Amino acid sequence: MSQQPSPANRQQQLKQEVARAALTYIEDDMILGVGTGSTVNCLIELLPRVRLRGAVASSQVTQDKLEALGIEVMDLNFVGELDLYIDGADEVNPNLQLIKGGGGALTREKIVAAASKEFICLVDESKWVTTLGREFPVPIEVLPQARSYVARELARMGGEPVYREGFVTDYGNVILDTYDLDVQRASEMEARLNNIVGVVCNGIFAANQADKLLIAKETGIETLLR
Ligand code: 5RP
Repeated sequence: MSQQPSPANRQQQLKQEVARAALTYIEDDMILGVGTGSTVNCLIELLPRVRLRGAVASSQVTQDKLEALGIEVMDLNFVGELDLYIDGADEVNPNLQLIKGGGGALTREKIVAAASKEFICLVDESKWVTTLGREFPVPIEVLPQARSYVARELARMGGEPVYREGFVTDYGNVILDTYDLDVQRASEMEARLNNIVGVVCNGIFAANQADKLLIAKETGIETLLR
């Protein structure tokens, strides 16, 4: 009798399937923007199959993984606009707006997404939501000195910020994971959060939403365009 994989193993299989599907969008000689997280890690393992010119990494963790595979990691300042950025997400809504930053790499991820012509987002179906921010908190990267001030401002907006203990971003900042924000108008909330002094970046990707979503379901890979 064949055994069913555990839910965690099945989710890992779905991540591997969506990563395989993403390979078809990567062309030889490209400089690829590479995201961060367990889904993208599945893609990184497959990248030696493609002859990339190089990659721009969205975090130090990703940079280390790429370099370990012998892929040249380039400085975004010297490569100009990228053709393609591929990354995962913590939540995605039907408009292909996202919450990202579960891994704490949101700022560099948003920079690379903004500097790319196309952003393909890879998720398994557990990430699909009708409204962002109801379950997953919005990660907000904050200058360390501004932590308490920003937390009070977020509380005034109806949010419940939780300091991510023991975590420091690649830029030396801290993260406030903020529950209960009203993210129904994602673009407005993204801009409002950016306006708080001391906020470096927030994990709502509305201005830099995905252009294409590959979603791994039990029934196969579905592709959605914005
Ligand atoms: C990291 C991110 C990741 O893309 C997001 O957390 C999804 O990660 P995973 O693929 O491990 O579920 O935004 O900052």
